[in-house]
Amino acid sequence: MIRMKSIWRVYDTGKVKVEALRNIDLFIQPNEFISIMGPSGSGKSTLMNIIGCLDVPTGGNYALEGKEVSKLHPNQLAEIRNRKMGFVFQNFNLLNYASVYENVELPLIFAGLSFRKRRKRVEEMLDRVGLVERRNHLPSELSGGEMQRIAIARALVNNPSIILADEPTGNLDSVTGKEIINIFEELWSQGNTVVMITHDPEISSRTKRIIKLKDGMIENDEKNHHNHQ
Ligand SMILES: Nc1ncnc2c1ncn2[C@@H]1O[C@H](COP(=O)(O)OP(=O)(O)OP(=O)(O)O)[C@@H](O)[C@H]1O
Ligand SMILES: [Mg+2]
Repeated sequence: MIRMKSIWRVYDTGKVKVEALRNIDLFIQPNEFISIMGPSGSGKSTLMNIIGCLDVPTGGNYALEGKEVSKLHPNQLAEIRNRKMGFVFQNFNLLNYASVYENVELPLIFAGLSFRKRRKRVEEMLDRVGLVERRNHLPSELSGGEMQRIAIARALVNNPSIILADEPTGNLDSVTGKEIINIFEELWSQGNTVVMITHDPEISSRTKRIIKLKDGMIENDEKNHHNHQ
């Protein structure tokens, strides 16, 4: 589903060039459950942004579902993001002045679905994360774990090919973090592809493959034998 060959990402800030990714080769199959680990500054978010088409590599090839994306126009990248990617972030990134329902509905408005179809889909997603009864609340009225469940519902609402999460449990206590990882595990067991950045070995131990980055390179990429099906 994802095939990266010799991916480089160099940030050119004028005086200095930062080689955030150096010669990354990465294959991801459908229905994998992956965590990306590594020290701060090792390139994890940069790699995830490129996987999610939020950013483009400086060099190398990236094929998504057989299509080369590294040369696409920004509008085409936006289209891929909307149709194929579901993003979850550490700080939830919810709209503070929109209700829970409206937050989950927004991607469907961009996708052009009718009111009826949107309502059905939003309710399915809220049900899936167990928060139907909070539909009219504002994000500020929810706990951190509930906000992240809403962000997951929003990420899933367009039925993406891949769910990308950048430290989704980073702002949560360990019990709430485990609830979030339970949801990701359930999504994986239902056939979704999940790629998640984490610093927490307990969280990564729940995934099936652990990729470790160091200095912009893949230091280690292996099946998680402690958690092998
Ligand atoms: N927009 C940017 N301009 C210049 N340099 C950047 C930019 N974004 C990231 N970098 C640099 O690229 C390197 C990789 O950054 P990245 O954010 O991918 O690291 P990370 O592994 O996600 O770290 P963290 O665990 O702290 O989130 C770092 O040296 C960072 O300073
Ligand atoms: Mg990061």
